[in-house]
Amino acid sequence: MEFITYEVEDMVGIITINRPKALNALNSTVLDELDATLDQVDLDAVRVLILTGAGEKSFVAGADIGEMSSLTKEEGEAFGKKGNDVFRKLETFPIPVIAAINGFALGGGCEISMSCDIRICSDNAVFGQPEVGLGITPGFGGTQRLARIVGVGKAKEMIYGARNIKADEAYRIGLVNNVYTQEELMPAAKKLAATIAKNAPIAVRNCKKAINEGLQVDMDQAIVIEEKLFGDCFETEDQKAGMGNFLEKDKSKKLKVVPFKNR
Ligand code: CAA
Repeated sequence: MEFITYEVEDMVGIITINRPKALNALNSTVLDELDATLDQVDLDAVRVLILTGAGEKSFVAGADIGEMSSLTKEEGEAFGKKGNDVFRKLETFPIPVIAAINGFALGGGCEISMSCDIRICSDNAVFGQPEVGLGITPGFGGTQRLARIVGVGKAKEMIYGARNIKADEAYRIGLVNNVYTQEELMPAAKKLAATIAKNAPIAVRNCKKAINEGLQVDMDQAIVIEEKLFGDCFETEDQKAGMGNFLEKDKSKKLKVVPFKNR
Protein backbone atom coordinates (compact mmCIF):
# COMPACT_ATOMS: atom_id res chain seq x y z
CA MET A 1 0.00 0.00 0.00
CA GLU A 2 1.15 3.51 -0.78
CA PHE A 3 -0.42 5.50 2.04
CA ILE A 4 -1.44 3.06 4.80
CA THR A 5 0.70 0.99 7.11
CA TYR A 6 -0.76 -1.76 9.23
CA GLU A 7 0.95 -3.69 12.00
CA VAL A 8 -0.23 -5.99 14.75
CA GLU A 9 1.21 -6.04 18.28
CA ASP A 10 -0.28 -8.19 21.06
CA MET A 11 -3.82 -8.48 19.66
CA VAL A 12 -3.89 -4.78 18.73
CA GLY A 13 -3.87 -3.66 15.09
CA ILE A 14 -2.35 -0.25 14.38
CA ILE A 15 -3.45 1.51 11.19
CA THR A 16 -1.35 4.55 10.26
CA ILE A 17 -2.40 6.97 7.54
CA ASN A 18 0.92 7.84 5.99
CA ARG A 19 0.83 10.67 3.48
CA PRO A 20 2.96 13.25 5.29
CA LYS A 21 3.54 15.49 2.26
CA ALA A 22 -0.15 16.41 2.36
CA LEU A 23 -0.47 16.18 6.17
CA ASN A 24 -2.19 12.80 5.66
CA ALA A 25 -5.08 14.31 3.67
CA LEU A 26 -7.59 11.77 2.40
CA ASN A 27 -7.58 11.34 -1.34
CA SER A 28 -9.39 8.50 -3.15
CA THR A 29 -6.35 6.23 -2.93
CA VAL A 30 -6.07 6.68 0.85
CA LEU A 31 -9.78 5.91 1.21
CA ASP A 32 -9.48 2.79 -1.00
CA GLU A 33 -6.44 1.60 0.92
CA LEU A 34 -8.13 2.17 4.26
CA ASP A 35 -11.11 0.16 3.05
CA ALA A 36 -8.83 -2.67 1.89
CA THR A 37 -6.88 -2.59 5.18
CA LEU A 38 -10.08 -3.04 7.18
CA ASP A 39 -10.99 -6.00 4.97
CA GLN A 40 -7.64 -7.60 5.79
CA VAL A 41 -7.86 -7.34 9.59
CA ASP A 42 -7.72 -10.85 11.03
CA LEU A 43 -10.58 -10.80 13.52
CA ASP A 44 -9.37 -14.01 15.11
CA ALA A 45 -6.08 -12.41 16.08
CA VAL A 46 -6.91 -8.74 16.62
CA ARG A 47 -9.23 -7.41 19.34
CA VAL A 48 -8.80 -3.64 19.08
CA LEU A 49 -7.66 -1.24 16.36
CA ILE A 50 -5.77 2.01 16.80
CA LEU A 51 -6.01 4.58 14.00
CA THR A 52 -3.37 7.31 13.83
CA GLY A 53 -1.50 9.56 11.40
CA ALA A 54 2.17 9.52 10.43
CA GLY A 55 4.43 12.33 11.62
CA GLU A 56 4.25 14.72 14.53
CA LYS A 57 2.14 17.45 13.04
CA SER A 58 -1.03 15.96 11.64
CA PHE A 59 -3.50 13.17 12.23
CA VAL A 60 -5.47 13.90 9.03
CA ALA A 61 -5.75 17.44 7.56
CA GLY A 62 -9.04 16.66 5.81
CA ALA A 63 -10.24 15.36 2.50
CA ASP A 64 -7.88 16.22 -0.34
CA ILE A 65 -8.74 19.74 -1.46
CA GLY A 66 -6.81 19.39 -4.73
CA GLU A 67 -8.80 16.31 -5.70
CA MET A 68 -12.12 17.93 -4.73
CA SER A 69 -11.44 21.26 -6.43
CA SER A 70 -12.69 20.24 -9.88
CA LEU A 71 -15.53 17.88 -8.96
CA THR A 72 -19.00 18.20 -10.50
CA LYS A 73 -22.17 17.92 -8.41
CA GLU A 74 -22.44 14.19 -9.19
CA GLU A 75 -18.76 13.57 -8.56
CA GLY A 76 -18.95 15.51 -5.29
CA GLU A 77 -21.84 13.34 -4.13
CA ALA A 78 -19.94 10.19 -5.14
CA PHE A 79 -16.80 11.37 -3.30
CA GLY A 80 -18.92 12.01 -0.19
CA LYS A 81 -20.36 8.50 -0.48
CA LYS A 82 -16.89 7.01 -0.87
CA GLY A 83 -15.73 8.61 2.37
CA ASN A 84 -18.98 7.88 4.17
CA ASP A 85 -18.88 4.20 3.18
CA VAL A 86 -15.37 3.70 4.57
CA PHE A 87 -16.10 5.68 7.74
CA ARG A 88 -19.29 3.72 8.31
CA LYS A 89 -17.30 0.51 7.90
CA LEU A 90 -14.97 1.78 10.61
CA GLU A 91 -17.85 2.82 12.85
CA THR A 92 -19.58 -0.55 12.54
CA PHE A 93 -16.34 -2.57 12.53
CA PRO A 94 -16.85 -5.57 14.84
CA ILE A 95 -14.05 -4.61 17.23
CA PRO A 96 -13.41 -1.27 18.97
CA VAL A 97 -11.37 1.38 17.17
CA ILE A 98 -9.37 3.99 19.11
CA ALA A 99 -8.39 7.19 17.30
CA ALA A 100 -4.98 8.40 18.50
CA ILE A 101 -5.11 11.96 17.18
CA ASN A 102 -1.59 13.30 16.88
CA GLY A 103 -2.11 16.78 15.44
CA PHE A 104 -4.47 18.36 12.90
CA ALA A 105 -7.87 16.68 12.73
CA LEU A 106 -9.63 18.99 10.32
CA GLY A 107 -12.59 18.34 8.03
CA GLY A 108 -12.35 14.68 7.01
CA GLY A 109 -9.76 14.23 9.79
CA CYS A 110 -12.19 15.27 12.50
CA GLU A 111 -14.83 13.19 10.74
CA ILE A 112 -12.79 9.99 10.59
CA SER A 113 -11.94 10.35 14.28
CA MET A 114 -15.65 10.62 15.05
CA SER A 115 -16.25 7.28 13.28
CA CYS A 116 -14.00 5.66 15.85
CA ASP A 117 -15.29 4.39 19.19
CA ILE A 118 -12.93 6.38 21.41
CA ARG A 119 -10.83 9.47 20.69
CA ILE A 120 -7.69 10.48 22.56
CA CYS A 121 -5.30 13.17 21.39
CA SER A 122 -1.95 14.86 21.85
CA ASP A 123 -1.76 18.39 23.24
CA ASN A 124 -0.92 19.83 19.79
CA ALA A 125 -4.14 18.48 18.25
CA VAL A 126 -6.49 20.87 16.48
CA PHE A 127 -10.05 19.90 15.60
CA GLY A 128 -12.49 21.56 13.29
CA GLN A 129 -14.84 21.45 10.35
CA PRO A 130 -13.47 24.24 8.12
CA GLU A 131 -15.59 23.26 5.10
CA VAL A 132 -17.88 26.30 4.89
CA GLY A 133 -14.72 28.38 4.46
CA LEU A 134 -14.05 26.30 1.33
CA GLY A 135 -17.59 26.66 0.02
CA ILE A 136 -18.78 23.16 0.91
CA THR A 137 -20.46 21.34 3.78
CA PRO A 138 -18.68 18.70 5.85
CA GLY A 139 -19.10 15.69 3.60
CA PHE A 140 -17.79 12.64 5.44
CA GLY A 141 -20.34 12.58 8.26
CA GLY A 142 -19.41 15.78 10.11
CA THR A 143 -22.88 17.31 10.01
CA GLN A 144 -24.24 14.15 11.63
CA ARG A 145 -21.63 12.82 14.04
CA LEU A 146 -20.35 16.08 15.56
CA ALA A 147 -23.84 17.01 16.76
CA ARG A 148 -24.32 13.55 18.21
CA ILE A 149 -21.02 13.70 20.10
CA VAL A 150 -20.79 17.28 21.37
CA GLY A 151 -24.44 18.39 21.13
CA VAL A 152 -26.29 20.34 18.48
CA GLY A 153 -25.49 23.88 19.67
CA LYS A 154 -21.73 23.36 19.94
CA ALA A 155 -21.62 21.46 16.63
CA LYS A 156 -23.49 24.23 14.81
CA GLU A 157 -21.22 26.87 16.32
CA MET A 158 -18.12 24.99 15.13
CA ILE A 159 -19.47 24.08 11.69
CA TYR A 160 -21.17 27.40 10.78
CA GLY A 161 -18.19 29.38 12.04
CA ALA A 162 -15.54 27.02 10.59
CA ARG A 163 -13.97 27.47 14.02
CA ASN A 164 -11.07 25.23 14.93
CA ILE A 165 -10.58 24.20 18.54
CA LYS A 166 -7.51 23.06 20.43
CA ALA A 167 -7.08 19.89 22.44
CA ASP A 168 -8.13 21.41 25.78
CA GLU A 169 -11.45 22.61 24.36
CA ALA A 170 -11.99 19.30 22.55
CA TYR A 171 -11.57 17.62 25.95
CA ARG A 172 -13.90 20.09 27.68
CA ILE A 173 -16.74 19.53 25.18
CA GLY A 174 -16.35 15.74 25.18
CA LEU A 175 -14.92 15.34 21.68
CA VAL A 176 -11.91 13.51 23.13
CA ASN A 177 -11.67 11.35 26.22
CA ASN A 178 -8.16 12.42 27.21
CA VAL A 179 -5.22 14.61 26.20
CA TYR A 180 -1.59 13.51 26.39
CA THR A 181 1.80 14.92 25.45
CA GLN A 182 2.94 13.91 21.97
CA GLU A 183 5.32 11.33 23.46
CA GLU A 184 2.66 9.85 25.72
CA LEU A 185 -0.08 9.52 23.09
CA MET A 186 0.77 6.19 21.45
CA PRO A 187 1.76 4.47 24.72
CA ALA A 188 -1.56 5.67 26.16
CA ALA A 189 -3.47 4.39 23.12
CA LYS A 190 -1.74 1.01 23.39
CA LYS A 191 -2.42 0.82 27.13
CA LEU A 192 -6.11 1.57 26.57
CA ALA A 193 -6.22 -0.99 23.75
CA ALA A 194 -4.55 -3.61 25.98
CA THR A 195 -7.09 -2.95 28.74
CA ILE A 196 -9.90 -3.64 26.28
CA ALA A 197 -8.11 -6.58 24.61
CA LYS A 198 -7.78 -8.55 27.83
CA ASN A 199 -11.57 -8.74 28.25
CA ALA A 200 -13.91 -11.29 26.68
CA PRO A 201 -13.76 -10.43 22.96
CA ILE A 202 -17.28 -11.44 22.00
CA ALA A 203 -18.70 -9.55 24.98
CA VAL A 204 -16.73 -6.44 23.97
CA ARG A 205 -17.99 -6.73 20.38
CA ASN A 206 -21.55 -7.20 21.59
CA CYS A 207 -21.21 -4.07 23.77
CA LYS A 208 -20.13 -2.05 20.73
CA LYS A 209 -23.06 -3.36 18.72
CA ALA A 210 -25.54 -2.78 21.53
CA ILE A 211 -24.39 0.80 22.14
CA ASN A 212 -24.20 1.75 18.45
CA GLU A 213 -27.44 0.08 17.35
CA GLY A 214 -29.33 1.08 20.50
CA LEU A 215 -28.58 4.75 19.91
CA GLN A 216 -30.40 4.59 16.55
CA VAL A 217 -33.76 3.44 17.96
CA ASP A 218 -36.09 4.28 20.85
CA MET A 219 -35.49 2.86 24.33
CA ASP A 220 -38.10 0.08 24.01
CA GLN A 221 -36.32 -1.28 20.94
CA ALA A 222 -32.87 -0.51 22.36
CA ILE A 223 -33.30 -2.71 25.40
CA VAL A 224 -34.45 -5.59 23.15
CA ILE A 225 -31.20 -5.20 21.19
CA GLU A 226 -29.34 -5.38 24.50
CA GLU A 227 -31.27 -8.44 25.68
CA LYS A 228 -30.43 -10.40 22.54
CA LEU A 229 -26.74 -9.53 22.66
CA PHE A 230 -26.65 -10.27 26.40
CA GLY A 231 -28.30 -13.65 25.73
CA ASP A 232 -25.78 -14.44 22.98
CA CYS A 233 -22.95 -14.22 25.50
CA PHE A 234 -24.29 -17.26 27.36
CA GLU A 235 -23.35 -19.43 24.38
CA THR A 236 -19.70 -18.43 24.62
CA GLU A 237 -16.76 -20.14 26.28
CA ASP A 238 -15.78 -16.75 27.68
CA GLN A 239 -18.94 -16.57 29.77
CA LYS A 240 -18.31 -20.03 31.21
CA ALA A 241 -14.64 -19.29 31.86
CA GLY A 242 -15.24 -15.76 33.15
CA MET A 243 -17.98 -16.70 35.61
CA GLY A 244 -16.26 -19.99 36.48
CA ASN A 245 -13.08 -18.11 37.36
CA PHE A 246 -15.03 -15.83 39.66
CA LEU A 247 -16.89 -18.65 41.40
CA GLU A 248 -13.73 -20.73 41.78
CA LYS A 249 -11.86 -17.60 42.91
CA ASP A 250 -9.28 -18.47 40.23
CA LYS A 251 -8.05 -15.32 38.54
CA SER A 252 -5.17 -17.15 36.86
CA LYS A 253 -7.30 -18.58 34.05
CA LYS A 254 -7.33 -16.51 30.93
CA LEU A 255 -10.39 -15.85 28.81
CA LYS A 256 -10.23 -17.77 25.56
CA VAL A 257 -10.13 -16.27 22.10
CA VAL A 258 -13.22 -17.51 20.32
CA PRO A 259 -12.78 -17.13 16.56
CA PHE A 260 -15.17 -14.47 15.37
CA LYS A 261 -15.71 -16.13 12.01
CA ASN A 262 -16.96 -19.26 13.77
CA ARG A 263 -19.74 -17.47 15.60
N1 CAA B 1 -5.83 18.58 1.06
C1 CAA B 1 -4.76 18.59 0.25
N2 CAA B 1 -3.53 19.00 0.66
C2 CAA B 1 -3.41 19.43 1.91
C3 CAA B 1 -4.49 19.45 2.82
C4 CAA B 1 -5.74 18.99 2.34
N3 CAA B 1 -6.82 18.94 3.13
N4 CAA B 1 -4.06 19.96 3.99
C5 CAA B 1 -2.75 20.21 3.84
N5 CAA B 1 -2.35 19.90 2.59
C6 CAA B 1 -1.02 20.06 2.01
C7 CAA B 1 -0.71 21.50 1.67
O1 CAA B 1 -1.26 21.86 0.41
C8 CAA B 1 0.80 21.50 1.65
O2 CAA B 1 1.23 20.93 0.45
P1 CAA B 1 2.47 21.61 -0.35
O3 CAA B 1 3.64 21.49 0.58
O4 CAA B 1 2.60 20.77 -1.59
O5 CAA B 1 2.10 23.03 -0.61
C9 CAA B 1 1.14 20.50 2.75
O6 CAA B 1 -0.04 19.72 2.97
C10 CAA B 1 1.49 21.17 4.06
O7 CAA B 1 0.44 22.05 4.39
P2 CAA B 1 0.67 23.59 4.80
O8 CAA B 1 1.87 24.13 4.11
O9 CAA B 1 -0.63 24.30 4.58
O10 CAA B 1 0.98 23.43 6.36
P3 CAA B 1 0.71 24.49 7.51
O11 CAA B 1 1.37 23.95 8.72
O12 CAA B 1 1.04 25.86 7.05
O13 CAA B 1 -0.90 24.44 7.73
C11 CAA B 1 -3.02 23.37 8.00
C12 CAA B 1 -1.50 23.28 8.20
C13 CAA B 1 -3.60 24.48 8.89
C14 CAA B 1 -3.62 22.02 8.38
C15 CAA B 1 -3.33 23.71 6.53
O14 CAA B 1 -2.60 22.80 5.70
C16 CAA B 1 -4.77 23.60 6.16
O15 CAA B 1 -5.53 24.49 6.49
N6 CAA B 1 -5.16 22.50 5.47
C17 CAA B 1 -6.50 22.32 5.02
C18 CAA B 1 -7.41 21.92 6.16
C19 CAA B 1 -8.84 21.79 5.67
O16 CAA B 1 -9.44 22.75 5.22
N7 CAA B 1 -9.41 20.58 5.77
C20 CAA B 1 -10.75 20.31 5.33
C21 CAA B 1 -10.76 19.81 3.94
S1 CAA B 1 -12.37 19.72 3.28
C22 CAA B 1 -13.00 18.26 3.82
O17 CAA B 1 -12.40 17.54 4.58
C23 CAA B 1 -14.35 17.94 3.25
C24 CAA B 1 -15.06 16.77 3.83
O18 CAA B 1 -15.64 16.85 4.88
C25 CAA B 1 -15.14 15.55 3.08
